[in-house]
Amino acid sequence: ALSGEDRAAVRALWRKLGGNVGIYATEALERTFRSFPATKTYFPHFDLSPGSAQVKAHGQKVADALTTAMAHLDDLPGALSALGALHAHRLRVDPAHFQLLSHCLLVTLARHYPGDLAPAMHASLHKFLSHVTSALASRYG
Ligand code: HEM
Repeated sequence: ALSGEDRAAVRALWRKLGGNVGIYATEALERTFRSFPATKTYFPHFDLSPGSAQVKAHGQKVADALTTAMAHLDDLPGALSALGALHAHRLRVDPAHFQLLSHCLLVTLARHYPGDLAPAMHASLHKFLSHVTSALASRYG
């Protein structure tokens, strides 16, 4: 589980992001598609061009899932169980890709909040995203 310091750090960052989590999640998705093109193969039905309304709507869904995770730090596997099952069984997303999106989220937030992403916050955010990834991946196999 995340330590008390990690929890306090990521919660404080989330409060700072406020209503903008969707904007950053969208930017992180765009970065993931451009930096790791293999991830695009799961979205053949999407318009993936820059500024796509579909990607923006999807970014908001990802953001809401992360905000839900943030509210359930004591039970991420439970909070993300249905979402993990969806990615495992219906969407069949290679779980290795979760780390790519997590990485791009971290890079995106570091670009927008350079003063906040000192190494300690970087480490806490990385741990939070790793726990989210593990919770999603726990529904595989
Ligand atoms: C759908 C979250 C990673 C591919 C979704 C949905 C959410 C979500 C909330 C909508 C579920 C619904 O409609 O009920 C997340 C989170 C991730 C993650 C929190 C990791 C931190 C990924 C990755 C890929 C992916 C890495 C592929 C490279 C998809 C696809 C859909 C989807 C294809 C369905 C899109 C549609 O047709 O509307 N995801 N996701 N996800 N996700 Fe993820």
